[in-house]
Amino acid sequence: MDKIGENSIGYSMYQYNQSCTRCIALAFSRNRITWGYGNVESPVIFVGEAPGKYGCDITGIPFTLDKSGEYFQSMIKAVGWIKEQVYVTNLVKCCPEDNRTPTVDEIKNCSSYLNLELVKIKPKLVVVMGKLPMKALLNKDGSIISLWDKVFDKDDCKYYIIPHPAFIVRDTKHWGEYYLKSFKKIKELVNG
Ligand code: URA
Repeated sequence: MDKIGENSIGYSMYQYNQSCTRCIALAFSRNRITWGYGNVESPVIFVGEAPGKYGCDITGIPFTLDKSGEYFQSMIKAVGWIKEQVYVTNLVKCCPEDNRTPTVDEIKNCSSYLNLELVKIKPKLVVVMGKLPMKALLNKDGSIISLWDKVFDKDDCKYYIIPHPAFIVRDTKHWGEYYLKSFKKIKELVNG
């Protein structure tokens, strides 16, 4: 039985706030702030790194329009969900110039937004997609491959590490099958 609500409506928690200036560089580089999006009653939150210049920096919805967004959504669909049923967000809500990696200070400046999302939604499972959220949320360094598929307990919640979709998109022939297995496991962890 699938415990994710089927009639939920995609919802962006701070959608009307487009004025954050905590990071001056990001306030200039972004097209718009991309807040988390989806079902605020979802038992699972997916956390990516930062909006992509050719994807959600244009749409304002995480993991849409670009290749990694499309790939992420294909995984969600492959396990029988749609993106409005779950909640998807990023560690950093603004796109850095030329898609550079966000700095440690930018991650810190933005952290209270993600913390609020976690406190409000109280998920059962947080899916940590990539090295940056792995470091920020679990203080784990090292290769994403060695930590892929590991589950950690923190604050009455499970944290599950998988690579960022952009990593998989570069070589779906090699990694696609394992990535799909991870999404099946995510569904099991949510429903179990
Ligand atoms: N990459 C991310 O990390 N997040 C998005 O929302 C899109 C691409």
